[in-house]
Amino acid sequence: EKGGYPHFMLKEIFEQPRSIMDSMRGRLVAENTQLTMSSIREYENRFKNANRILIVACGTSWHAGLVAEYLIEELARIPVEVEYASEFRYRNPIINEGDIVIAISQSGETADTLAALELAKSKGALIFGVCNVVGSSIARATDAGAYTHAGPEIGVASTKAFTAQVTVLTLIAMMLAEKRGTMEKSALHQLMLEMEQIPAKVEKALQLDKEIQAIAEIFKDSSNFIYLGRGLNFPVALEGALKLKEISYIHAEGYPAAEMKHGPIALIDENMPVVVIATKDNSYEKVVSNIQEVRARKGRVIAIVTEGDTVIPEMAEFVIEVPEAHEALVPLLSVIPLQLLSYHIAVMRGCNVDQPRNLAKSVTVE
Ligand code: M6R
Repeated sequence: EKGGYPHFMLKEIFEQPRSIMDSMRGRLVAENTQLTMSSIREYENRFKNANRILIVACGTSWHAGLVAEYLIEELARIPVEVEYASEFRYRNPIINEGDIVIAISQSGETADTLAALELAKSKGALIFGVCNVVGSSIARATDAGAYTHAGPEIGVASTKAFTAQVTVLTLIAMMLAEKRGTMEKSALHQLMLEMEQIPAKVEKALQLDKEIQAIAEIFKDSSNFIYLGRGLNFPVALEGALKLKEISYIHAEGYPAAEMKHGPIALIDENMPVVVIATKDNSYEKVVSNIQEVRARKGRVIAIVTEGDTVIPEMAEFVIEVPEAHEALVPLLSVIPLQLLSYHIAVMRGCNVDQPRNLAKSVTVE
């Protein structure tokens, strides 16, 4: 049932070209500049006139929520807040009738996320679900929603569910941009075309597996890791760090790269591996300076870069190239090497990658 792979996690990582495609199917036809999601159409006016979107989720789903925040604000110009469901439900949050709450959950059974959406519902918000498990408690409790089509995810560490969530949320951001007229038609069309190319590019990124395995070998005995990224790659840094913690039990922290100088830089010495996501986007130059800061303190840099980058290979110890893509779609590619890196490190350390200690696939207790 693992399809020839030694672990479900690896199988699920390699399924991503397919699961991303399945999450777009029927929703995006770039050729005709067509985006459809019946649940959004049904509540078109609510979405069009939303004062604010609140996103509630936990763990990896919360990271997908952060990606969505940046995309919805950038493309559709609707203010978005992302909250840990566990905090939201206990802090008497301000929820107004014109608000839309998006609950993101792979399992659809996470107790805190379910309680958070019930609370928001009782205050009159429209509740929209992005779930993977059909008919799950969260899916049933929402007013509307769009399923991710990742298929069953068995590995406790979420991989294909994350990229499916990001895919669906990106489509939602694009649809809202279209309905609100916040994007030039040609720019939107271009983004759609590039979105269609993502599964093939993910396929290409997966070919990095051997290369990443070699890097994992070098760092498998490290006790700490730092992950840095800016913009859309900041949530990816958080996700990379979470993956490593969960399955290899190595202490890892993700930070927005510019926050480093406000504290974490004190941790950097010759024993600290620093994974920097430095793809070509509008914060590229800034990330390059962050890499120099790490190097100046002898930190060991593993950089995730865009194919063809000639600058960063001069300064980073290890470089992993991902295919070039539209800036808005980079998280779908930059997360792949991070999943593989944590997988290989965990296997080399003899950890149970599919069922890490102390964790359950869905957290149905608070
Ligand atoms: O099923 P959900 O998406 O609601 O689960 C939320 C988190 O418990 C989950 O993402 C958790 O952080 C994963 N183990 C991450 O790999």
